Parts: sequence; structure tokens; C-alpha cells
Amino acid sequence: MGNCFGSSARVDASLSTPSASAASRVLSKTSNSSDRSSISIPSYSGKSSIDSLPTPRSEAEILSSANVKSFSFNELKNATRNFRPDSLLGEGGFGYVFKGWIDENTLTAAKPGSGIVIAVKKLKPEGFQGHKEWLTEVNYLGQLHHPNLVKLIGYCSEGDNRLLVYEFMPKGSLENHLFRRGPQPLSWDTRMKVAIGAARGLSFLHDAEEQVIYRDFKASNILLDGEFNAKLSDFGLAKAGPTGDRTHVSTQVMGTQGYAAPEYVATGRLTAKSDVYSFGVVLLELLSGRRAVDKMKVGIEQNLVDWAKPYLGDKRRLFRIMDIKLEGQYPQKGAFSTASIALQCISHEPKLRPRMAEVLTKLEELQSPKVASRHSISENRPSTDSIGTPSASPFPSHQKSRHGRETK
Ligand SMILES: Nc1ncnc2c1ncn2[C@@H]1O[C@H](COP(=O)(O)OP(=O)(O)OP(=O)(O)O)[C@@H](O)[C@H]1O
Ligand SMILES: [Mg+2]
Repeated sequence: MGNCFGSSARVDASLSTPSASAASRVLSKTSNSSDRSSISIPSYSGKSSIDSLPTPRSEAEILSSANVKSFSFNELKNATRNFRPDSLLGEGGFGYVFKGWIDENTLTAAKPGSGIVIAVKKLKPEGFQGHKEWLTEVNYLGQLHHPNLVKLIGYCSEGDNRLLVYEFMPKGSLENHLFRRGPQPLSWDTRMKVAIGAARGLSFLHDAEEQVIYRDFKASNILLDGEFNAKLSDFGLAKAGPTGDRTHVSTQVMGTQGYAAPEYVATGRLTAKSDVYSFGVVLLELLSGRRAVDKMKVGIEQNLVDWAKPYLGDKRRLFRIMDIKLEGQYPQKGAFSTASIALQCISHEPKLRPRMAEVLTKLEELQSPKVASRHSISENRPSTDSIGTPSASPFPSHQKSRHGRETK
């Protein structure tokens, strides 16, 4: 399958250092457009997202059943002070994200500094793919609610304008904190907190009665609230998981280079284990402070998985890939256990990857007070070899999905 890699540069108003490498979206050239008015994405009607069977729904059905507000374009223009450049929070493949204010009761535009803060994502006029992602996002986030998913407050569909209105996440994205110069480097505990929050979000999606595959798990899609609680954003590529006897969903290849699972990129066969692979890549980013793909680096170092893999199972050499911004302030056993989890997640064979629920349990155990005291933070000098005995490999070599759904 031929893939074309389009670049998606980003801008951040508060952190102006340009990213060392722009992540690229993976798009299949073999994609075929379906009918605009009837996109086959699952229905989550009813109070609970796990009550109903997925059915193709029309745009009108999706918009009328989403539990969110329909904003007029003028309202959002006023809320963001006419999309002023100094309100710009960032830029992604979908478009620009602006900061705005609305009244908490009426949800109408409010004066800057009053009411509640929102983030308004404005779609670039890019045609069908953007519209499809916009609608998919309204469909999923309009129905799914969880502390580790970003809250969708509303949308706007007026003429050619397509916008999404979210709760404002004061700490921005994980990407900004890990890779941009400026903010305080994230401590080990904060990194683990973010990993656990993101794992909770993914587990929730995977274990819903009607499984959801997120398909775009990466540092820029993990947003952080004021206490560094992680929330997944960007559901434009989300897909309903396989149903019945099916082991996978066949779909055009979309996602981000460096994060997408190799078998999915090669075959277009999507499973929840594709998300697990991406989670492993983000764990590597948290450990190393390096991007999944960094074109500024040379040779094997351009690809984080290829570069880091040989070190992950080696407790004596793990320090070589640890983020120097941690300045050695991490628990050696905790780091090695986390690296072992990452290694399982990025297994080439999807069946060998753990389920997200297992990843979550393991990460929580590492951070629980009992374990945390054993793994208490100590000074780690890169030259030292005194790494203790690692815990056993966190997962059996072969894990079966709870739902018995595996690729191949
Ligand atoms: N709800 C929000 N609150 C605060 N900042 C946000 C919010 N949503 C997005 N942002 C900021 O806007 C940036 C751009 O987000 P966006 O999702 O459009 O692009 P991306 O994730 O960088 O790339 P891609 O389009 O490939 O997903 C984020 O990295 C983040 O800094
Ligand atoms: Mg995003």
C-alpha cells in the first residue's frame, strides 16, 4: 500500500520555538471517498455510550443527537475576539486553535477573563476529509464522556465553516512540555501521571461494549489540565472496533508517522493493538524526551522506536536513552519497569502487545504508595551501573484479548 506523508506544522503562541520535526500524517493513496451525507460511523445514542449498536448515521442524525451546543459562527467570532492571532493556542493538520470565553450558563460569548475559557478549533477549508473528521469528532465526543477524554462543548456548522468548541486545557499538550524549550521539564512523577491518565482514556475506549479504536494516539493529542491530568483530544480518526467474529477493521491507513503500528501501515488492518503500539511510542517519548520521528537527527536516531528498542530490556544500559532533562531524578526500577511495558507495547507482533487495561494496571502498580516507596526517587548518575534487579517481565509472552479479537 502506498502512503503519502503530508506535513502538519504547528504553532504555539506561548512557546515559540519551532518543533524540531513536524509529525506527518499517514494517508493511503487508495482511499475512496464515501457519500458525504451518510458516513458509516457508529451511533452512540442513548444515555450510555455502551448501550447501542453501531449503525451508519447521517450528518443530521449525528448533529441532532450530540449532547453539545450548536454555536453560530458569529458567537465564536465574538468569543475569540475575531480569531485574533494573540488568541492562537496552536495549529494542527485540522486547522487553528484559538482561546475564547463564554458565559457558563448561557454559553454565549463573554468578555475575555470572564465566564469559562474555551478552545475553538477552526477547520481549514480542506474539503471532504476535514469535514469527515469534524463529523466523526462530534459523533464520538458528543456521546462519550470520561475524565480522561477532553470535553466537547459544542460545534459550528455554518456555510463552509466547521468549528469545534472544547473545554480549555490550561497546560496545553504533552508535546509542548516534552519537546519545546521554555516550560519546566516534566518530573518523573508527572510523566507517570500523564501516562496513567492517557492509559485510562484509551482503556475506556477499548473496553466499551462497542469498542472504539482511537487511531491517533500521540503526544500532541494528549492535553493537560491545570493538575497535569491527561485528556485525549482529536477523535477525527476514531473508528468502531471489529464486531462479531471479525478480528480487525479494514480501513485506509491514517494516523501519524512514527506512532502508527507497522502492521496497520502495511495492511490497513486496524485493531485496538494498533493503539497499544502508539501508546508504547508515547511511553518512549516520556522516558527519553525525544520525538517519535525527528528528522533533525541522523541515521537510526531519526526513529525513536528503532533507536531505543535495544536499550529497553537492558537495565544496565537503559540510562543511555533516559531524558537528560530528568537530570537523573527518576527511580531506576520504576524506569526499567516502564521501559519493559513500552517494549511489550511496541512488539512487532500485535498479539504480543498487552491490552490497554493490563498496561494501565501495571502503571498504576508502579505508582501505588506501596510500590512507590520501594521505587522511591533516587539520584541516578548516567555512569552508575547500580540498577537493581528488575521486576519480572510485566506481561506473559502471549496475551489474548478479553474479547478474543486479535489481528490475524
Ligand atoms: N482544548 C484545548 N485547550 C488548550 N489547548 C489546546 C486545546 N486543543 C488544542 N490545543 C492546542 O492546539 C494545538 C494544536 O492542536 P491540534 O489538535 O489542532 O493539532 P495537533 O494535535 O498538534 O496535530 P494534528 O492535527 O495532527 O492532530 C495543541 O497542540 C495544543 O497546544
Ligand atoms: Mg491534535
